[in-house]
Amino acid sequence: MLVSGENVELAHAEISALVSALAENVTMSWLGRLGVIHSISDPVPFLLNRAALLKEAGEILLRSDSLGSLISHETLGQTWETIESDSSFCVRVCNLAREKHNEFPERAVRRLGESIRKTTGAHVSMNAPDVRILLILTSEGVFVCRSAESETRHLLRKRGPGRMRFHHPSMMNAFLARTMCNLAGVMPHDIVLDPFCGGGGILSEILSIGAKPVGIDLSWPLLTGASANLEDCQRSDYCLVQGDARFLPLCKCDCIVTDPPYGRSSSTRGTESIKLVKSLLEQAGGILQEGGRMCICASSKMNVPQLIGLLGIIPKAQILVPVHGGLTREIFVLAF
Ligand SMILES: C[S@@+](CC[C@H](N)C(=O)[O-])C[C@H]1O[C@@H](n2cnc3c(N)ncnc32)[C@H](O)[C@@H]1O
Repeated sequence: MLVSGENVELAHAEISALVSALAENVTMSWLGRLGVIHSISDPVPFLLNRAALLKEAGEILLRSDSLGSLISHETLGQTWETIESDSSFCVRVCNLAREKHNEFPERAVRRLGESIRKTTGAHVSMNAPDVRILLILTSEGVFVCRSAESETRHLLRKRGPGRMRFHHPSMMNAFLARTMCNLAGVMPHDIVLDPFCGGGGILSEILSIGAKPVGIDLSWPLLTGASANLEDCQRSDYCLVQGDARFLPLCKCDCIVTDPPYGRSSSTRGTESIKLVKSLLEQAGGILQEGGRMCICASSKMNVPQLIGLLGIIPKAQILVPVHGGLTREIFVLAF
């Protein structure tokens, strides 16, 4: 698995949360952006379908200590057994250790390409190959993988700022919204609450995972926008309520995924943001099913860690997400 380099800690946390949702014995290790999973069944389709920060994933075909030993590997020809003769392929390189591999490994790429052509009869196609071979260079060795690119990231880009039917600057972007759902362990059919739902950035991701979103917000115009965005997901099992998150209706849900107001783009109607978070944390135990999880995003200036400490909650994860000079978000995963 190759994750995005934007926030590697967040990407590791997202993949780890998804892997632990697989009810199987899976072992996982990381070499920077490269994740290596050992599992009896194939977790790749599930991970590619769910993760926002996973760029591509597949199977490791060959591992070697160095490029030199890779290209002189005796069994190189046997590596391509699964490539069919009438298929097309491309070989690409991802260099994760420029200090070690400081020259473009042209010779190795050419050697791999020749070996594939000679042993299988397959032909090269750089634009739309049937088989993507990825040569990953790390400080721990080199890996030859058969990989697939994430379609999910393509879909998330389509739900990017200004590309949904309704947009407001306070809305959560699709990549972070999806990552937060994954950190909370949202599964299809779960009932998931966003008590500060605004224009529905998080709600749209909950719905596209196959879960049932419940959105609450003070603002009627933003709820109307959320409704337009959810209609585009072509599913009707969601619920939008105009209300105050300090007085949540007594209902049970499986997860809470939310970002309370902070910054200039969303109004708190005079209430301090940290007081809204405190009120939500105090209500969460009564709203969530036993074992339910919450993923909450706040500004690092709000000092949520101090509040969590005072309430006696130990976060399962706490990750910083720098946005720009004036804003660093902090994401917390809490279990109740
Ligand atoms: C950062 S925005 C939420 C973005 C949204 N979660 C998304 O996924 O796009 C914060 C929202 O909190 C709402 N809000 C502020 N105070 C509230 C309260 N007391 N109860 C419910 N919603 C509130 C604002 O109207 C705003 O839409």
